[in-house]
Amino acid sequence: MRHAVVTGGAGFLGSHLVDDLLEDDYRVTVLDNYGSGRPENLAHLQTADIAIENHDVREPFPAFDDVDIVYHLASRASPEDFGTHAVEIALTNSEGTKNALECAREYGARSIIASTSEVYGNPEEHPQTETYHGNVNIRGPRAPYDESKRFSEALAVAYERKYGMDIRTVRIFNTYGPRMRPNDGRVIPNFLSQALSGDDLTVYGDGSQTRSFCYVSDLIDGIRAFADAPGGMAAGNVVNLGNTNEITIRELAEIVLEVVDTASEITYRELPEDDPEVRRPDISRAQAMLDWEPTVSLQTGLERTVPYFENQLNPQLASDSSSK
Ligand SMILES: NC(=O)c1ccc[n+]([C@@H]2O[C@H](COP(=O)([O-])OP(=O)(O)OC[C@H]3O[C@@H](n4cnc5c(N)ncnc54)[C@H](O)[C@@H]3O)[C@@H](O)[C@H]2O)c1
Repeated sequence: MRHAVVTGGAGFLGSHLVDDLLEDDYRVTVLDNYGSGRPENLAHLQTADIAIENHDVREPFPAFDDVDIVYHLASRASPEDFGTHAVEIALTNSEGTKNALECAREYGARSIIASTSEVYGNPEEHPQTETYHGNVNIRGPRAPYDESKRFSEALAVAYERKYGMDIRTVRIFNTYGPRMRPNDGRVIPNFLSQALSGDDLTVYGDGSQTRSFCYVSDLIDGIRAFADAPGGMAAGNVVNLGNTNEITIRELAEIVLEVVDTASEITYRELPEDDPEVRRPDISRAQAMLDWEPTVSLQTGLERTVPYFENQLNPQLASDSSSK
């Protein structure tokens, strides 16, 4: 059996990736420190093909018998954590990436590095193509995340050039779905938690800033297609993965109010410093190379996500209504 090491595998995206790999007959080792991940995200997996290790990727990886592929997803990703966990995040995306790459080098494995649309900062080019170099404020509140992800990419390129390794980088744009923590701090968990609790939805600024939201199954399909693509085009490359349907945050709030049956309304608060004004991926590279594009609409994705949040926020109520 092929062996995949997944860092951050107890988190939102990592746990969905683990499901996908196990279904595809991989043996999987998860390395996670449970900083923002949760054991319950993997609790449904009753198989001997998974090993879960409580391990901080800032430390060198444990020894394995062999490794075919390393998926490096470990990193807190919520803007709420960029200040409170700044040093941890910066080191996870530098020391942690180094350790992931060293593991891949030792076993001659392929590596997939999870980067982010945040490498584009507050973009002056729209939509963002992979060739755009970005506009990040090095000293701003988002820098520990944004700049360490940029460094993570640079380190991957350096390893690839020095050691001739097969390293592939995915720039992930806002992705949502079940297994995000209700208190995660990202906008969709915030809105769903507020709407389901009957609280008003908090929009920062006037809500005219835009984002493009991708449902988790589409994103995982894209990551796997890139990881499995033949080396010629994909090795050493970087792709944007995300949904191109760009909406304002105010529109998102209105859609959430439609999907969730709630009396909540919208309230406005001051916009945080360096909040990107626009965000939409140009996915033509992924379309051409992988024949991939998202298929799940925002409405459908939210409808699939709401039951999970209902259950998280009020498990008793959710189990009563599902047994009716
Ligand atoms: N979901 C998105 O919209 C999005 C967008 C862009 C990039 N990403 C990237 O995708 C990856 C996964 O994000 P997510 O949305 O699943 O977030 P998440 O917080 O749910 O998952 C991150 C996981 O990494 C683990 N982790 C963090 N630091 C660690 C460390 N030092 N050692 C070991 N484990 C550690 C956490 O415990 C958690 O399980 C991250 O690298 C993130 O930057 C996600």
